[in-house]
Amino acid sequence: MRRKLLRTGADELSYEIRGIVKKAELVANAGQDISWENIGDPIQKHASVPQWIKDIISDLSQQDRTYGYCHSKGVLETREFLAKKNNELGGVQITAEDILFFNGLGDAIAKIYQFLVPTARIIGPSPAYSTHSSAEAAHANDHPVTYNLDPGNNWYPDMDDIYQKVKYNSNIVGILIINPDNPTGMVYPREVLERFVEIAREFNLFLISDEIYINITYNGAEAWSLPEYIGDVPGIALKGLSKEVPWPGSRCGWAKFYNRKKDVEFDKLCTTLENAKMIEVSSTKLPQLAIPKIMSDPRYQLHLEENNRKIGEKSRRISEILKDVEGVHFNPTNGAFYNTIIFKKGVLNGNQKLEIKNEKVRELVESWVSVPDMPLDKRFVYYLLGAKGVCVVPISSFCSDLNGFRVTLLEEDTDQLEETFRKIHDALVEYLEVVPENA
Ligand SMILES: Cc1ncc(COP(=O)(O)O)c(C=O)c1O
Repeated sequence: MRRKLLRTGADELSYEIRGIVKKAELVANAGQDISWENIGDPIQKHASVPQWIKDIISDLSQQDRTYGYCHSKGVLETREFLAKKNNELGGVQITAEDILFFNGLGDAIAKIYQFLVPTARIIGPSPAYSTHSSAEAAHANDHPVTYNLDPGNNWYPDMDDIYQKVKYNSNIVGILIINPDNPTGMVYPREVLERFVEIAREFNLFLISDEIYINITYNGAEAWSLPEYIGDVPGIALKGLSKEVPWPGSRCGWAKFYNRKKDVEFDKLCTTLENAKMIEVSSTKLPQLAIPKIMSDPRYQLHLEENNRKIGEKSRRISEILKDVEGVHFNPTNGAFYNTIIFKKGVLNGNQKLEIKNEKVRELVESWVSVPDMPLDKRFVYYLLGAKGVCVVPISSFCSDLNGFRVTLLEEDTDQLEETFRKIHDALVEYLEVVPENA
Protein backbone atom coordinates (compact mmCIF):
# COMPACT_ATOMS: atom_id res chain seq x y z
CA MET A 1 0.00 0.00 0.00
CA ARG A 2 1.29 3.46 -0.71
CA ARG A 3 0.39 4.49 2.85
CA LYS A 4 0.05 2.86 6.22
CA LEU A 5 -3.56 1.66 6.49
CA LEU A 6 -4.24 1.24 10.18
CA ARG A 7 -4.05 3.41 13.22
CA THR A 8 -2.24 2.21 16.34
CA GLY A 9 -5.49 1.37 18.10
CA ALA A 10 -6.22 -1.41 15.60
CA ASP A 11 -3.69 -3.60 17.46
CA GLU A 12 -5.92 -3.45 20.54
CA LEU A 13 -8.67 -5.46 18.88
CA SER A 14 -8.23 -8.98 20.15
CA TYR A 15 -10.80 -11.49 21.35
CA GLU A 16 -9.18 -14.45 23.02
CA ILE A 17 -12.62 -15.96 23.76
CA ARG A 18 -12.74 -16.83 20.07
CA GLY A 19 -8.92 -16.82 19.56
CA ILE A 20 -8.55 -19.94 21.69
CA VAL A 21 -10.98 -21.68 19.33
CA LYS A 22 -8.34 -21.74 16.57
CA LYS A 23 -5.98 -23.62 18.88
CA ALA A 24 -8.76 -25.94 20.08
CA GLU A 25 -9.68 -26.75 16.48
CA LEU A 26 -6.10 -27.84 15.77
CA VAL A 27 -6.21 -30.04 18.88
CA ALA A 28 -9.57 -31.46 17.76
CA ASN A 29 -8.18 -32.19 14.27
CA ALA A 30 -5.38 -34.13 15.94
CA GLY A 31 -7.95 -36.42 17.55
CA GLN A 32 -8.79 -34.90 20.96
CA ASP A 33 -12.48 -34.43 21.91
CA ILE A 34 -13.14 -30.87 23.10
CA SER A 35 -15.44 -29.56 25.79
CA TRP A 36 -16.07 -25.93 24.86
CA GLU A 37 -15.97 -23.80 28.01
CA ASN A 38 -14.77 -20.66 26.27
CA ILE A 39 -17.84 -18.81 25.04
CA GLY A 40 -21.04 -17.59 26.72
CA ASP A 41 -23.44 -18.96 24.13
CA PRO A 42 -26.16 -20.93 25.94
CA ILE A 43 -27.38 -22.40 22.64
CA GLN A 44 -23.95 -23.88 21.90
CA LYS A 45 -24.14 -25.51 25.36
CA HIS A 46 -27.44 -27.23 24.56
CA ALA A 47 -29.94 -24.71 25.99
CA SER A 48 -33.21 -24.73 24.09
CA VAL A 49 -35.52 -21.78 23.55
CA PRO A 50 -39.03 -22.53 24.97
CA GLN A 51 -41.58 -23.56 22.33
CA TRP A 52 -43.93 -20.66 23.19
CA ILE A 53 -41.14 -18.18 22.36
CA LYS A 54 -40.46 -19.99 19.10
CA ASP A 55 -44.22 -19.74 18.33
CA ILE A 56 -44.15 -15.95 18.84
CA ILE A 57 -41.21 -15.70 16.45
CA SER A 58 -42.89 -18.01 13.90
CA ASP A 59 -46.05 -15.88 13.99
CA LEU A 60 -44.03 -12.72 13.43
CA SER A 61 -42.25 -14.33 10.51
CA GLN A 62 -45.65 -14.70 8.80
CA GLN A 63 -46.34 -10.95 8.84
CA ASP A 64 -45.15 -8.80 5.96
CA ARG A 65 -44.31 -5.80 8.17
CA THR A 66 -41.61 -7.87 9.90
CA TYR A 67 -39.56 -7.74 6.72
CA GLY A 68 -39.27 -3.96 6.37
CA TYR A 69 -36.88 -1.49 7.97
CA CYS A 70 -37.96 -0.02 11.27
CA HIS A 71 -37.50 3.41 12.86
CA SER A 72 -33.78 4.11 13.13
CA LYS A 73 -34.03 4.19 16.94
CA GLY A 74 -36.00 0.93 16.99
CA VAL A 75 -39.65 -0.15 16.81
CA LEU A 76 -41.70 2.50 18.64
CA GLU A 77 -44.10 0.11 20.49
CA THR A 78 -41.10 -1.85 21.76
CA ARG A 79 -39.31 1.25 23.00
CA GLU A 80 -42.55 2.36 24.69
CA PHE A 81 -42.89 -1.06 26.29
CA LEU A 82 -39.29 -0.99 27.56
CA ALA A 83 -39.60 2.61 28.82
CA LYS A 84 -42.71 1.59 30.80
CA LYS A 85 -40.90 -1.41 32.29
CA ASN A 86 -38.00 0.87 33.22
CA ASN A 87 -40.34 3.37 34.88
CA GLU A 88 -42.02 0.65 36.93
CA LEU A 89 -38.69 0.21 38.76
CA GLY A 90 -39.44 3.59 40.35
CA GLY A 91 -36.02 5.12 39.64
CA VAL A 92 -35.03 7.56 36.89
CA GLN A 93 -37.93 7.88 34.43
CA ILE A 94 -37.44 7.74 30.66
CA THR A 95 -39.53 7.79 27.49
CA ALA A 96 -39.29 5.80 24.27
CA GLU A 97 -37.07 8.61 22.96
CA ASP A 98 -34.36 7.65 25.47
CA ILE A 99 -33.99 4.14 24.04
CA LEU A 100 -31.85 3.20 21.04
CA PHE A 101 -31.65 -0.26 19.47
CA PHE A 102 -28.48 -1.87 18.13
CA ASN A 103 -27.52 -5.06 16.31
CA GLY A 104 -26.57 -6.76 19.55
CA LEU A 105 -24.69 -5.09 22.39
CA GLY A 106 -21.46 -5.74 20.50
CA ASP A 107 -22.65 -3.10 18.01
CA ALA A 108 -23.67 -0.69 20.80
CA ILE A 109 -20.31 -1.08 22.55
CA ALA A 110 -18.33 -0.47 19.34
CA LYS A 111 -20.30 2.73 18.63
CA ILE A 112 -20.26 4.17 22.15
CA TYR A 113 -16.45 4.38 22.25
CA GLN A 114 -15.89 5.07 18.56
CA PHE A 115 -17.02 8.71 18.55
CA LEU A 116 -15.31 9.86 21.73
CA VAL A 117 -12.21 12.00 21.22
CA PRO A 118 -9.16 9.71 21.65
CA THR A 119 -8.14 11.47 24.87
CA ALA A 120 -11.54 10.90 26.53
CA ARG A 121 -11.18 7.64 28.42
CA ILE A 122 -13.68 5.28 30.00
CA ILE A 123 -12.23 3.32 32.91
CA GLY A 124 -13.48 -0.26 33.03
CA PRO A 125 -13.03 -3.34 35.20
CA SER A 126 -10.02 -5.67 35.15
CA PRO A 127 -10.37 -8.57 34.47
CA ALA A 128 -12.18 -6.98 31.54
CA TYR A 129 -14.80 -8.26 29.14
CA SER A 130 -12.75 -7.74 26.01
CA THR A 131 -15.48 -6.37 23.74
CA HIS A 132 -15.51 -3.25 25.95
CA SER A 133 -11.81 -3.01 26.72
CA SER A 134 -10.68 -3.61 23.12
CA ALA A 135 -13.13 -1.10 21.66
CA GLU A 136 -12.26 1.52 24.27
CA ALA A 137 -8.53 1.00 23.76
CA ALA A 138 -8.87 1.06 19.97
CA HIS A 139 -10.62 4.46 20.08
CA ALA A 140 -7.87 5.86 22.29
CA ASN A 141 -4.92 4.36 20.36
CA ASP A 142 -3.67 3.14 23.71
CA HIS A 143 -4.01 0.33 26.26
CA PRO A 144 -7.25 0.12 28.25
CA VAL A 145 -7.57 2.12 31.46
CA THR A 146 -8.80 -0.24 34.16
CA TYR A 147 -9.76 -0.54 37.82
CA ASN A 148 -9.21 -3.74 39.75
CA LEU A 149 -11.81 -6.30 40.71
CA ASP A 150 -10.54 -7.99 43.84
CA PRO A 151 -10.62 -11.82 43.97
CA GLY A 152 -9.83 -11.58 47.70
CA ASN A 153 -13.02 -9.58 48.30
CA ASN A 154 -15.71 -11.49 46.34
CA TRP A 155 -14.47 -9.90 43.13
CA TYR A 156 -15.94 -6.55 44.21
CA PRO A 157 -14.35 -3.46 42.62
CA ASP A 158 -11.47 -1.92 44.54
CA MET A 159 -13.12 1.47 45.14
CA ASP A 160 -9.90 3.14 46.35
CA ASP A 161 -8.16 2.07 43.16
CA ILE A 162 -10.97 3.62 41.07
CA TYR A 163 -11.02 6.80 43.11
CA GLN A 164 -7.26 7.34 42.82
CA LYS A 165 -7.19 6.59 39.10
CA VAL A 166 -10.12 8.89 38.38
CA LYS A 167 -8.70 11.65 40.56
CA TYR A 168 -5.25 11.64 38.98
CA ASN A 169 -6.22 10.97 35.36
CA SER A 170 -8.28 13.89 34.13
CA ASN A 171 -8.78 12.17 30.77
CA ILE A 172 -11.24 9.79 32.40
CA VAL A 173 -14.76 10.91 31.45
CA GLY A 174 -16.75 7.82 32.33
CA ILE A 175 -16.81 4.59 34.33
CA LEU A 176 -17.96 1.24 32.99
CA ILE A 177 -19.73 -1.13 35.38
CA ILE A 178 -20.62 -4.67 34.32
CA ASN A 179 -23.26 -5.97 36.71
CA PRO A 180 -23.62 -8.96 37.00
CA ASP A 181 -20.07 -9.28 35.78
CA ASN A 182 -18.46 -11.19 32.97
CA PRO A 183 -15.91 -12.84 33.60
CA THR A 184 -16.25 -13.08 37.41
CA GLY A 185 -19.95 -13.93 37.85
CA MET A 186 -20.24 -11.40 40.65
CA VAL A 187 -23.27 -9.24 41.49
CA TYR A 188 -22.56 -5.92 43.19
CA PRO A 189 -24.27 -4.78 46.38
CA ARG A 190 -26.06 -1.45 46.36
CA GLU A 191 -23.37 0.30 48.47
CA VAL A 192 -20.75 -0.48 45.81
CA LEU A 193 -22.97 0.89 43.06
CA GLU A 194 -23.75 4.02 45.06
CA ARG A 195 -20.03 4.63 45.50
CA PHE A 196 -19.61 4.58 41.71
CA VAL A 197 -22.28 7.27 41.50
CA GLU A 198 -20.58 9.40 44.17
CA ILE A 199 -17.27 9.24 42.28
CA ALA A 200 -18.99 10.07 38.98
CA ARG A 201 -20.76 13.02 40.61
CA GLU A 202 -17.59 14.33 42.25
CA PHE A 203 -15.56 14.29 39.02
CA ASN A 204 -18.36 15.09 36.58
CA LEU A 205 -18.29 11.73 34.76
CA PHE A 206 -20.98 9.59 33.17
CA LEU A 207 -21.62 5.93 33.93
CA ILE A 208 -22.09 3.02 31.55
CA SER A 209 -23.76 -0.02 33.07
CA ASP A 210 -23.66 -3.20 31.01
CA GLU A 211 -26.66 -5.10 32.37
CA ILE A 212 -26.93 -7.88 29.84
CA TYR A 213 -26.98 -10.38 32.76
CA ILE A 214 -29.30 -8.35 35.05
CA ASN A 215 -31.97 -11.07 35.05
CA ILE A 216 -29.47 -13.88 35.58
CA THR A 217 -28.90 -14.06 39.34
CA TYR A 218 -29.06 -16.94 41.81
CA ASN A 219 -27.94 -18.01 45.30
CA GLY A 220 -30.23 -15.31 46.69
CA ALA A 221 -28.49 -12.42 44.90
CA GLU A 222 -30.42 -9.48 43.45
CA ALA A 223 -28.96 -7.16 40.80
CA TRP A 224 -29.72 -3.42 40.86
CA SER A 225 -30.30 -1.70 37.56
CA LEU A 226 -28.72 1.72 36.78
CA PRO A 227 -31.95 3.81 37.00
CA GLU A 228 -32.50 2.50 40.53
CA TYR A 229 -29.31 4.05 41.89
CA ILE A 230 -27.90 6.62 39.44
CA GLY A 231 -29.89 9.61 40.78
CA ASP A 232 -29.09 12.73 38.74
CA VAL A 233 -25.83 11.54 37.15
CA PRO A 234 -25.84 10.99 33.34
CA GLY A 235 -25.59 7.36 32.30
CA ILE A 236 -26.24 4.63 29.76
CA ALA A 237 -27.60 1.17 30.61
CA LEU A 238 -27.08 -1.62 28.09
CA LYS A 239 -29.35 -4.62 27.74
CA GLY A 240 -29.91 -7.36 25.16
CA LEU A 241 -31.60 -10.63 24.25
CA SER A 242 -28.53 -12.84 23.86
CA LYS A 243 -28.24 -14.29 27.32
CA GLU A 244 -31.65 -14.53 28.95
CA VAL A 245 -34.02 -15.56 26.14
CA PRO A 246 -31.43 -16.90 25.13
CA TRP A 247 -31.13 -15.61 21.56
CA PRO A 248 -27.56 -14.54 20.77
CA GLY A 249 -28.17 -14.97 17.05
CA SER A 250 -30.89 -12.27 17.15
CA ARG A 251 -28.13 -9.63 17.31
CA CYS A 252 -30.43 -7.42 19.32
CA GLY A 253 -29.47 -5.08 22.14
CA TRP A 254 -30.48 -1.63 23.32
CA ALA A 255 -29.17 1.38 25.21
CA LYS A 256 -31.21 3.45 27.67
CA PHE A 257 -30.04 7.01 28.21
CA TYR A 258 -30.52 8.58 31.66
CA ASN A 259 -30.35 12.26 32.60
CA ARG A 260 -29.12 13.17 29.14
CA LYS A 261 -30.22 16.78 29.51
CA LYS A 262 -28.10 17.20 32.65
CA ASP A 263 -24.92 17.60 30.61
CA VAL A 264 -24.48 19.10 27.14
CA GLU A 265 -21.52 16.90 26.16
CA PHE A 266 -23.29 13.74 27.30
CA ASP A 267 -26.43 14.75 25.41
CA LYS A 268 -24.29 15.23 22.29
CA LEU A 269 -22.88 11.72 22.71
CA CYS A 270 -26.44 10.28 22.85
CA THR A 271 -27.44 12.28 19.76
CA THR A 272 -24.31 11.11 17.91
CA LEU A 273 -25.21 7.48 18.63
CA GLU A 274 -28.73 8.11 17.32
CA ASN A 275 -27.29 9.74 14.20
CA ALA A 276 -24.90 6.84 13.66
CA LYS A 277 -27.89 4.48 13.68
CA MET A 278 -29.77 6.76 11.33
CA ILE A 279 -26.93 6.54 8.79
CA GLU A 280 -27.11 2.77 9.07
CA VAL A 281 -30.96 2.95 8.69
CA SER A 282 -32.01 0.59 11.51
CA SER A 283 -31.20 -2.46 13.61
CA THR A 284 -32.62 -6.00 13.33
CA LYS A 285 -36.42 -5.74 13.43
CA LEU A 286 -37.81 -9.25 14.08
CA PRO A 287 -36.35 -9.58 17.62
CA GLN A 288 -37.57 -6.06 18.47
CA LEU A 289 -41.11 -6.99 17.46
CA ALA A 290 -40.85 -10.11 19.62
CA ILE A 291 -39.70 -8.30 22.80
CA PRO A 292 -43.08 -7.03 24.15
CA LYS A 293 -44.76 -10.31 23.25
CA ILE A 294 -42.10 -12.41 25.01
CA MET A 295 -41.52 -10.20 28.03
CA SER A 296 -45.16 -9.49 28.82
CA ASP A 297 -46.06 -13.18 28.75
CA PRO A 298 -46.43 -14.56 32.30
CA ARG A 299 -44.39 -17.59 31.20
CA TYR A 300 -41.32 -15.37 30.73
CA GLN A 301 -40.80 -14.76 34.45
CA LEU A 302 -41.15 -18.51 35.09
CA HIS A 303 -38.66 -19.19 32.31
CA LEU A 304 -36.12 -16.80 33.89
CA GLU A 305 -36.67 -18.31 37.33
CA GLU A 306 -36.15 -21.82 36.01
CA ASN A 307 -32.97 -20.80 34.18
CA ASN A 308 -31.62 -19.13 37.29
CA ARG A 309 -32.44 -22.18 39.39
CA LYS A 310 -30.48 -24.36 36.97
CA ILE A 311 -27.46 -22.04 36.79
CA GLY A 312 -27.46 -21.67 40.59
CA GLU A 313 -27.39 -25.45 40.92
CA LYS A 314 -24.48 -25.67 38.49
CA SER A 315 -22.61 -22.94 40.35
CA ARG A 316 -22.99 -24.91 43.59
CA ARG A 317 -21.92 -28.16 41.91
CA ILE A 318 -18.82 -26.53 40.43
CA SER A 319 -18.06 -24.96 43.79
CA GLU A 320 -18.15 -28.39 45.44
CA ILE A 321 -15.65 -29.74 42.91
CA LEU A 322 -13.20 -26.83 42.83
CA LYS A 323 -13.41 -24.90 46.08
CA ASP A 324 -10.77 -26.87 47.96
CA VAL A 325 -8.08 -27.10 45.30
CA GLU A 326 -4.83 -25.88 46.84
CA GLY A 327 -3.10 -23.02 45.06
CA VAL A 328 -6.17 -21.42 43.51
CA HIS A 329 -8.57 -18.73 44.58
CA PHE A 330 -12.16 -19.79 44.00
CA ASN A 331 -15.14 -17.47 44.53
CA PRO A 332 -18.62 -19.01 44.23
CA THR A 333 -20.67 -16.93 41.76
CA ASN A 334 -24.05 -15.21 42.15
CA GLY A 335 -24.87 -14.02 38.65
CA ALA A 336 -24.22 -14.37 34.91
CA PHE A 337 -22.79 -17.75 33.92
CA TYR A 338 -19.04 -17.56 34.26
CA ASN A 339 -16.54 -18.22 36.99
CA THR A 340 -12.98 -16.96 37.05
CA ILE A 341 -10.51 -19.12 38.93
CA ILE A 342 -7.27 -17.42 39.93
CA PHE A 343 -3.91 -19.02 40.65
CA LYS A 344 -2.42 -17.82 43.92
CA LYS A 345 0.83 -15.84 43.65
CA GLY A 346 3.90 -17.97 43.08
CA VAL A 347 2.19 -21.30 42.35
CA LEU A 348 2.81 -21.22 38.59
CA ASN A 349 6.14 -21.72 36.88
CA GLY A 350 7.41 -22.38 33.38
CA ASN A 351 8.26 -26.06 34.05
CA GLN A 352 4.75 -27.26 34.81
CA LYS A 353 3.20 -29.75 32.44
CA LEU A 354 0.33 -32.17 32.08
CA GLU A 355 0.78 -35.55 30.50
CA ILE A 356 -0.52 -35.52 26.92
CA LYS A 357 -0.82 -39.03 25.49
CA ASN A 358 -1.65 -38.03 21.90
CA GLU A 359 1.76 -37.34 20.33
CA LYS A 360 0.50 -34.89 17.71
CA VAL A 361 -1.39 -32.89 20.33
CA ARG A 362 1.66 -32.91 22.62
CA GLU A 363 3.83 -31.51 19.83
CA LEU A 364 1.29 -28.77 19.15
CA VAL A 365 1.01 -27.74 22.81
CA GLU A 366 4.78 -27.84 23.32
CA SER A 367 5.29 -25.57 20.32
CA TRP A 368 2.71 -23.07 21.64
CA VAL A 369 4.09 -22.89 25.17
CA SER A 370 7.68 -22.49 24.00
CA VAL A 371 7.15 -18.97 22.62
CA PRO A 372 9.01 -16.28 24.60
CA ASP A 373 7.03 -14.48 27.33
CA MET A 374 4.22 -17.01 27.30
CA PRO A 375 1.86 -15.93 30.12
CA LEU A 376 1.86 -18.63 32.81
CA ASP A 377 -1.94 -18.95 32.86
CA LYS A 378 -2.03 -19.36 29.08
CA ARG A 379 0.52 -22.16 29.44
CA PHE A 380 -1.87 -23.95 31.83
CA VAL A 381 -4.80 -23.32 29.50
CA TYR A 382 -2.93 -24.90 26.56
CA TYR A 383 -1.96 -27.92 28.65
CA LEU A 384 -5.54 -28.30 29.89
CA LEU A 385 -6.71 -28.21 26.29
CA GLY A 386 -4.16 -30.75 25.09
CA ALA A 387 -4.30 -33.15 28.03
CA LYS A 388 -8.01 -33.05 28.96
CA GLY A 389 -9.70 -31.47 25.94
CA VAL A 390 -11.22 -28.64 28.02
CA CYS A 391 -11.20 -25.26 26.28
CA VAL A 392 -11.18 -22.28 28.71
CA VAL A 393 -9.92 -18.70 28.36
CA PRO A 394 -6.82 -17.40 30.19
CA ILE A 395 -7.51 -14.40 32.42
CA SER A 396 -4.33 -12.63 31.32
CA SER A 397 -6.15 -11.99 28.05
CA PHE A 398 -8.93 -10.11 29.92
CA CYS A 399 -6.59 -7.11 30.56
CA SER A 400 -5.51 -8.48 33.90
CA ASP A 401 -2.21 -8.92 35.73
CA LEU A 402 -3.73 -11.89 37.51
CA ASN A 403 -3.17 -15.46 36.34
CA GLY A 404 -6.22 -17.64 36.01
CA PHE A 405 -8.89 -18.78 33.63
CA ARG A 406 -12.59 -18.32 32.93
CA VAL A 407 -15.05 -21.19 32.70
CA THR A 408 -18.74 -21.08 31.81
CA LEU A 409 -21.59 -22.53 33.85
CA LEU A 410 -23.66 -23.31 30.82
CA GLU A 411 -23.46 -27.02 30.09
CA GLU A 412 -27.03 -28.34 30.27
CA ASP A 413 -26.02 -31.99 30.40
CA THR A 414 -25.21 -32.47 34.10
CA ASP A 415 -23.06 -35.61 33.56
CA GLN A 416 -20.99 -33.76 30.99
CA LEU A 417 -20.71 -30.73 33.33
CA GLU A 418 -19.53 -32.96 36.16
CA GLU A 419 -17.00 -34.70 33.90
CA THR A 420 -15.60 -31.41 32.57
CA PHE A 421 -15.12 -29.88 36.01
CA ARG A 422 -13.60 -33.11 37.37
CA LYS A 423 -11.10 -32.88 34.51
CA ILE A 424 -10.33 -29.27 35.44
CA HIS A 425 -9.94 -30.32 39.08
CA ASP A 426 -7.55 -33.16 38.20
CA ALA A 427 -5.58 -30.97 35.81
CA LEU A 428 -5.11 -28.29 38.49
CA VAL A 429 -3.97 -30.79 41.10
CA GLU A 430 -1.53 -32.50 38.71
CA TYR A 431 -0.19 -29.26 37.25
CA LEU A 432 0.34 -27.47 40.55
CA GLU A 433 2.30 -30.39 42.01
CA VAL A 434 5.29 -29.52 39.82
CA VAL A 435 7.60 -27.21 41.72
CA PRO A 436 10.33 -25.25 39.92
CA GLU A 437 13.72 -26.99 39.75
CA ASN A 438 15.47 -24.25 41.71
CA ALA A 439 12.78 -23.96 44.44
C1 LIG B 1 -20.94 -8.21 29.47
C2 LIG B 1 -21.33 -8.44 28.06
N1 LIG B 1 -21.76 -7.40 27.32
C3 LIG B 1 -22.12 -7.55 26.03
C4 LIG B 1 -22.05 -8.78 25.40
C5 LIG B 1 -22.40 -8.85 23.94
O1 LIG B 1 -23.69 -9.25 23.78
P1 LIG B 1 -24.42 -9.27 22.36
O2 LIG B 1 -24.64 -10.70 22.03
O3 LIG B 1 -25.70 -8.52 22.59
O4 LIG B 1 -23.52 -8.59 21.37
C6 LIG B 1 -21.62 -9.90 26.13
C7 LIG B 1 -21.49 -11.21 25.47
O5 LIG B 1 -20.94 -12.15 25.99
C8 LIG B 1 -21.24 -9.73 27.48
O6 LIG B 1 -20.80 -10.74 28.22
